Amino acid sequence: MDTSETIIPMPRIGDPAPQFKAITTQGEINFPSDYKGSWVILFSHPADFTPVCTSEFITFATLEEKFAQANCKLIGLSVDGLYSHIAWLRNIKEKIEYKGMKNVEVKFPLIEDITMEVARKYGMIQPGESSTKAVRAVFFIDPKGIIRAIVYYPLSLGRNFDELYRALIAMQTADAFSVATPADWQPGDDVIVPPAGSCGVAKDRMEGKEKDTTCYDWYFCTKPLDKETLLKTVLKKA
Ligand code: BEZ
Repeated sequence: MDTSETIIPMPRIGDPAPQFKAITTQGEINFPSDYKGSWVILFSHPADFTPVCTSEFITFATLEEKFAQANCKLIGLSVDGLYSHIAWLRNIKEKIEYKGMKNVEVKFPLIEDITMEVARKYGMIQPGESSTKAVRAVFFIDPKGIIRAIVYYPLSLGRNFDELYRALIAMQTADAFSVATPADWQPGDDVIVPPAGSCGVAKDRMEGKEKDTTCYDWYFCTKPLDKETLLKTVLKKA
């Protein structure tokens, strides 16, 4: 066993996003300082010029403007070099048509990480899956540079970008309205109100005294949150 390699603890939800400086297809970036005030989705893929990754990039690039409207910037990473990244993104734009998406330009930065320095900092190299390629990791980082959600997929499994968007909007909703979101929540669905903090509030809720609140039991109460109000609030920050 090689004991010389430094073990870097994996970042966790609630941690400040690890800092790095990197070369990307859009120039050098200093992370997270260059992105203060924006949400960021920092995601890794195993390798350029591979089919699952190509389907993901064409999809994410097509959705980039939708994420931008929710004040969220995208940053990709793989352990390939800059010229490979450039050649692959040119190939996607010039040659790939997938599910009606064609002539797609990837405008968000794609980090070159041949040394795996950034991938290691973010726990994107998971040797049980591959010690030479990053897994499909997704880090949601908030405007203060705090990691708010992490998703990992194996090499063979393409991500669901509608779910990433849903998760982003759900976290922004929780922040803006001090609520939580139930299973499979979508904008327009009822949201969960904070738990009753006293016996009196629990009683009032169960007796239907809290306007617009529906209780399944004293600890599980929801209220409507109008879709238009919600989207106006979270999307206006873009
Ligand atoms: C792909 O993107 O198709 C892929 C990449 C690495 C391993 C397996 C699949």
